[in-house]
Amino acid sequence: MQSTPENGLPEPDAESARHADKVAEHLRELVGAGSISFAEFMQAVLYTPGLGYYVAGSRKFGAQGDFVTAPEVSSLFGHVVANQCAAVLDELGGGDVLEPGAGNGQLAVAILGRLAELDRLPDRYLVLEVSPELQARQREALREQLPEYFRRVEWLADIPDAHRGVVVVNEVADAIPVERFRISEGQVMQARVAVDGDGFGWRYDPAPAALSDAVRRIEQQTGFDFPEGFTSEVSPGLRNWIKAVCSAVDRGSVLLFDYGLPRREYYAPDRSDGWLRCHFRHRAHSDPLILTGIQDVTSWVDFTAVAESAVAAGMTVGGYVSQAEFLLHGGLDEALQGLADLPAAQQALISGQVKKLTLPGEMGENFKSIGLCRGVSAPPAFRYSDKAHQL
Ligand SMILES: C[S@@+](CC[C@H](N)C(=O)[O-])C[C@H]1O[C@@H](n2cnc3c(N)ncnc32)[C@H](O)[C@@H]1O
Repeated sequence: MQSTPENGLPEPDAESARHADKVAEHLRELVGAGSISFAEFMQAVLYTPGLGYYVAGSRKFGAQGDFVTAPEVSSLFGHVVANQCAAVLDELGGGDVLEPGAGNGQLAVAILGRLAELDRLPDRYLVLEVSPELQARQREALREQLPEYFRRVEWLADIPDAHRGVVVVNEVADAIPVERFRISEGQVMQARVAVDGDGFGWRYDPAPAALSDAVRRIEQQTGFDFPEGFTSEVSPGLRNWIKAVCSAVDRGSVLLFDYGLPRREYYAPDRSDGWLRCHFRHRAHSDPLILTGIQDVTSWVDFTAVAESAVAAGMTVGGYVSQAEFLLHGGLDEALQGLADLPAAQQALISGQVKKLTLPGEMGENFKSIGLCRGVSAPPAFRYSDKAHQL
């Protein structure tokens, strides 16, 4: 009932609709007669054990799911990421690769396959995954596709200590709960979620000091004076997560990919309705209060906040580039050598994948990559067209 989508979104099937109702029931109990912050709501719809989108077993990836990520578009993405891992592992004389949020395991398969080709296999390939269902899929994918390297893969329950090597993070930062705020009568208000009839609705209360201070700091840093009604997000959770990941790196590099922008673009006054983005059956929209527990709820990433958190944890920014630049400077051209010798149908398939990964209207420009370093050089893909000065 509450999950009947408007805005031309497809109807959920009966089982998904039942699940959405169950999640809504849980949320109604959580919210009661009052309200919860949007960050609490996002945490609940994505991560409540047994109910949340990421932990309750719904099919998220691929044609039957809600979205497609770069590693699923093509193994070329993992090929280029692996080239960067190889450079770091070479400099360190060995080490591990850690992948938080490994999805259906396709990035791990592509990275390990390419590192084997380069004779630069990591000592261990470590996966940190919150979803039991996705962990099972990752095990199956790796066991089936790379049986000879399966013993190098380990699933961890937490961020490891003293990691030496590379951390690869693709499309996880956008899934970390954000706070939403609005400027009203010159005051910073916190977006909260309350029960509204059969569904949920927004309400805005004066922001707690930490949120209000964070918003005022952004105004000072950017020089923007947010106008009346300006609505956007900040992510204390992402800051803490990046600090925790970076603090765990003893020596090595973090390669993080996601859709996002530097702070001055993220909070540009004309971007007055923020950056929430939900995915349901390959439709993107901006209403996180519907389809509870059966749609992905994300927010674009403020890459300046990522850089600041890394620096606070003692790492340096090795480079910040678009996904297209990362791929083009990281070895995509060399990976495509021999394309002309392939049958026409395969050539067409691969060029389609390259377009999807690199064209500005596809994933090439909205997706960015940041390379964070401790005690190693910036990986090759970041050495040209670095735009870290924009952060
Ligand atoms: C959008 S998917 C991306 C998957 C994969 N990296 C890819 O590119 O295909 C997000 C992944 O992050 C996982 N995830 C979400 N929050 C996480 C967290 N706090 N720690 C580790 N994994 C997380 C999800 O279960 C899922 O595997």
